[in-house]
Amino acid sequence: MKKIIVANWKMNGSIGFMNTFIPAIAPILTKTSNQIIICPPFPYFSSLTTALKGTKAQLGAQNCHTDPQGAFTGEVSAPMLADLGCQAVIVGHSERRILFEESDDLVKAKAAAIHAAGMTAIICIGENLTTRKSGHAIDSVILQLQASLPPSTTSQNTLIAYEPIWAIGTGLTASLQEITEMHHALHQTTKIPIPLLYGGSVTDQNAKDILSLPHVDGVLVGGASLKAEAFCKIVSAS
Ligand code: 13P
Repeated sequence: MKKIIVANWKMNGSIGFMNTFIPAIAPILTKTSNQIIICPPFPYFSSLTTALKGTKAQLGAQNCHTDPQGAFTGEVSAPMLADLGCQAVIVGHSERRILFEESDDLVKAKAAAIHAAGMTAIICIGENLTTRKSGHAIDSVILQLQASLPPSTTSQNTLIAYEPIWAIGTGLTASLQEITEMHHALHQTTKIPIPLLYGGSVTDQNAKDILSLPHVDGVLVGGASLKAEAFCKIVSAS
């Protein structure tokens, strides 16, 4: 079955990196039947759009503002991203929730702005290690999800990414059982079939097992999405 693979480059990359990385992954992006979304930092949108021409990969962003335009120095709006050919935007990533103090309400407003601009919102949710250890991971992630989904949400314009904070960039992946339990709970909660992604130390070694779990429709990949060989294996893992 077709899977969704999202690459989150975070604040990484350069023209030099793309000059070698994109030609290395282009062949697999041309022939894959999976849906691939690559989210580079904003300055590389234009180069990446050119480099991805002829492949099936889509352009995504890592953030946007809630308003369509205005006096918000340094910000980028959803309609601007859509104007550049962007098809999806990550919101509510734990790095933004923690480092930039983004609340559920702000995540919800950003997701609504993304929908209004005709793009897909990739809404991230996930518990910290204390919550996981306390046994309340599922309850807390469900509450976070309910508080982050705007009324404009449909199964066509939204992807939900479960990313346990303790698994991001740590090399610690949630166990297959933990992912299965959480995705089952998310599936029950959403009622409409919104695709569910897993993220957190996904690699070419574990992608196949994760992608074969029930209610795992794709993966959101950080570090491994910047390594050509590993990323190609993840794209063809399902
Ligand atoms: P890593 O794959 O590096 O753990 O990052 C996951 C992530 O935050 C993707 O959004």
